[in-house]
Amino acid sequence: MLRTDKPFLDALNGHVTDKIPFWFMRQAGRYLPEYRDLRESAGGFLEMAYNPDIATEITMQPIRRFGMDAAIIFSDILTIPHALGQHLEFAQGEGPKLDPINEASDISRLDFSKFDQHLAPVYQALKQTKAALTSEGFANTALIGFAGSPWTVATYMIEGGSSKDFFKTKSFAYAQEEEFSNLINILIEATASYLINQIAAGAECVQLFDSWAGALDSNSFKKWVIKPTKQIVDLVKDSHPDVPIIGFPRMAGTNYLDYVQGTGVNGIGLDHQVNLKWAARTLQPLACLQGNLDPAALMAGGDALILATEQIITELRQGPFVFNLGHGIHKDTPVEHVEQLVDLIKGM
Ligand code: CP3
Repeated sequence: MLRTDKPFLDALNGHVTDKIPFWFMRQAGRYLPEYRDLRESAGGFLEMAYNPDIATEITMQPIRRFGMDAAIIFSDILTIPHALGQHLEFAQGEGPKLDPINEASDISRLDFSKFDQHLAPVYQALKQTKAALTSEGFANTALIGFAGSPWTVATYMIEGGSSKDFFKTKSFAYAQEEEFSNLINILIEATASYLINQIAAGAECVQLFDSWAGALDSNSFKKWVIKPTKQIVDLVKDSHPDVPIIGFPRMAGTNYLDYVQGTGVNGIGLDHQVNLKWAARTLQPLACLQGNLDPAALMAGGDALILATEQIITELRQGPFVFNLGHGIHKDTPVEHVEQLVDLIKGM
């Protein structure tokens, strides 16, 4: 693939770029005062995510301040279960609450009939954001669409919200493997369709968030993370062969290598636990690396932030590389520390 005017896309296409492309997971969100103001007046998180004007505005907020190389559409990984008819709400400060799946009959109630209609505001927000990036002068900023990976989304659907050990989901997968596999297959179909529509609406790259990939043993990891991800990658590449896909199997440890080899992703999101030298030697010949500053170093700022950032850049910039965090920005992070980090990356 030839170089473009977007360094983020060039890196994902295997180029070593002159400037270091960067964006941050959760770059739009509560650490920004302008986000908190809007959230106050909009009512709730889902009201914002399903309102194309507001979602566009929030997606643009960090770009206007910091000029990232990529904007990620403001939405959530739980829009898929919601669009399949599962009840979802976000209470302020409490995280997501869903009506949990307890048995096979709960899975058979999932329903595609309103899927596209339910997600139409996300596609509309992508169109508007693409236009806003051009009209506001961010011609070199790429637009990222995303979804949760089937395994991670299934944990929320079965646990009914966040969990520490995913015991209910894992025991369900062991005890009722066929039923669990049905759920994963529904999510594969839904996720591929969602991402393909996001690309049609203007996304130039898509990221699959598998935040809880690290909870699985190696065999289950192959079954519930690698195989479904490969199927989604194949389906998306069938329609859009040139759109890069980033996988983020958080906390996968050495299973990161199996994931890169087994899925066909173009880029790989590294959590901050991954050893940099190992990643550079083992993973970077196979995929563009994206990561992996500990959000706690960003919270701390100062010399600790400088040191941690320089180390990552020194180890990873010899190959295709996108600077990011190892997980999302923490909501209490001072905006000045994000400014400090952006200046640092732009200066290197
Ligand atoms: O990165 C971005 O700026 C894009 C938007 C985005 C959000 N969520 C907005 C959001 C993205 C990419 C996500 C992904 C997401 N959502 C993940 C995967 C990444 C990760 O963090 O591991 C997960 C697991 C979710 C599910 C989710 N959404 C949880 C558990 C929560 C509650 C915890 C929290 O941080 O509040 C959310 C809510 C959520 N999603 C917020 C935002 C900005 C906070 C909403 C608010 O209260 O204003």
